[in-house]
Amino acid sequence: MKKILFVGAEAMPFGATGGLGDVMGSLPAAISKTGKADVRMIMPLYSQIKPEWREKMKEEAVFYVTLSWRRQYCGIYSLEKDGVTYYFVDNEYYFKRDTLYGCFDDGERFAFFSMAVIEALEKLDFFPDVLHAHDWQAALSIIYLNHIYKWREEYKKIKTVFTIHNIEYQGKYDFAILGDVFDLNEGEHSLMEHDGCINLMKGAIEDADRVTTVSSKYAEEIQTPEFAHGLHTVLQRNSRKLSGILNGIDYNYYDPKKDPAIAENYSSVDTSGKKACKEALQKECALPIKPDTPLLAIVTRLASHKGLDIIEGAIYDIVSKNDVQLVVLGKGETRYEEYFRYLEACFPDKVRALITYDRDLSKRIYAGADIFLMPSKSEPCGLSQMIASRYGAIPVVRETGGLYDSIKPFWMDGKKMNGNGFTFSGYNSHELKERCEAAIALYNSEFAPKLIYKIMRCDFSWKKSAEKYLELYDSLDM
Ligand code: GLC
Repeated sequence: MKKILFVGAEAMPFGATGGLGDVMGSLPAAISKTGKADVRMIMPLYSQIKPEWREKMKEEAVFYVTLSWRRQYCGIYSLEKDGVTYYFVDNEYYFKRDTLYGCFDDGERFAFFSMAVIEALEKLDFFPDVLHAHDWQAALSIIYLNHIYKWREEYKKIKTVFTIHNIEYQGKYDFAILGDVFDLNEGEHSLMEHDGCINLMKGAIEDADRVTTVSSKYAEEIQTPEFAHGLHTVLQRNSRKLSGILNGIDYNYYDPKKDPAIAENYSSVDTSGKKACKEALQKECALPIKPDTPLLAIVTRLASHKGLDIIEGAIYDIVSKNDVQLVVLGKGETRYEEYFRYLEACFPDKVRALITYDRDLSKRIYAGADIFLMPSKSEPCGLSQMIASRYGAIPVVRETGGLYDSIKPFWMDGKKMNGNGFTFSGYNSHELKERCEAAIALYNSEFAPKLIYKIMRCDFSWKKSAEKYLELYDSLDM
C-alpha cells in the first residue's frame, strides 16, 4: 500500500482559516477511504487547537530542530481521525500566537515547521512514498528533503508533489533570509530566487516531481501573466509536470439531509425543509418573512479578487430594481465592510450585512438562500459554489478557475435542461447584473424546482478526485 504524507499549514477541524483547511481536512480521509493508501497529515500544533482534540493526542517524539544558529524544541503528537493519522508539530514559541499566520516571522515559523517535518520522518520511522506539500508554508519541506536529506538511504526514494491552492500567496523574502533563517546556502540561491526575492513557492515548483493545482482551468490560467502573480514563466517552464485536479467538498459535513446546524433538514427529493430554513434565516436576519421573494447570498472574504469590486458596481441596482432580499456574510477589506453596511442602511427591509465569519451561520445561509453570488476575478477552485449547490442555492459565477470547471451555464434546449448555474466571462458589473437578473427570473419561473433538484444532485464529492490523486501518485513510479 502506498504511503502518503500530506504537509500543510491548516486542516479542519483542528485549525483553519479558509479553503486550504477544508481540503486538508477532507482529502486525506477521502484517499484513505479508497483503501489504496496509508495517508497521514502533518501540521503545526497551534494554540488554537481545541482541548477536546488535544486530549486525544499521543506524544510520539521529542527532539531538537536546528536551523542555522537556532536550536528549537520540537514535539510530535498524533491522533487518528477518519482513517487518517494526523501529526502535530509542537513548539509554543512559534505556534502559540493570536493567528495561524500573518506574523512578522512567518518565514522562520514555517522553515522550522518544514525542517521538523523532515526530521520527524526518521523519529516516527515513517518514510512515505510521496511527500505531498501544500502551498508556500510547506514548500520548504520539499526543498529540505531534496537538498539536505536526500543522501540518506531512507529518504532517497521519497517522491514529492506540490499543490498550489492560491498562487497569490508565494512566501517572498529578502535574500538575507536564505542562509540565516532558511539554512540554505549559495547552492540553492538560484533555485529559490525569483524576481529579486527569495520565493518559497517558486522553489517548490522547480523542485517537486509533480506540481498540481486545484482545477484544470487554473492550471492553464497560472501559466499566463494575468493570473500568475509573476510566476507564469516558472510554470510555463515546468508545464510538463503541472496538472489540475478539482477539489471536492466534505459530503458528511456539508449535507442538508443531516446537517445539525440548519433549521430543518431536507434533500433534493423533498425540499420542504429548505423553505423552513429560508424562513428561519429571514427571522434571524430580521428581514420580512417572504417565502416567494428570491433570497440572494454572498458568503466570502471581503477582498477585491473575490469579485467585490464588480458586485459593488451592480448590487445597488439589483436590489433596488427587483423584489429580492440579500444576505452578506464575511469580513475583510474595510472598504467593502462599509459598503455593505451602507447598502443595509439604504435597504433595511431587503439587505442584511453580517460582517463576521461563522461557519454554522454560513451553513444556515447556504440552506436559506435561493441564489448564490460568486463572481471572483480569479478562483483556484472555490468551494462555496459547490456547497451552495448541495444546499440548493443556484450559483451565479464568473467563468474562471474552478468556477469554470464546476458550474456550467444553464440553458433550455427544448425540454432538456443544460447546465447547473449562471455564468459569465467578462469581469464587469454589467454581465454580473445581467446573469444575476436572469437567475432571479429563472427562480420566479416554472423551471426553478427542476434546476434546484439538478444542482443538488451534482457530484461534488471527493470520490473522483481522490482517484485522480492516486493515479498521480502511481505515475511517480514510472
Ligand atoms: C484557496 C483558493 C480556493 C480553493 C482553496 C482550496 O483558498 O483560493 O479557490 O478552493 O484554496 O484549494
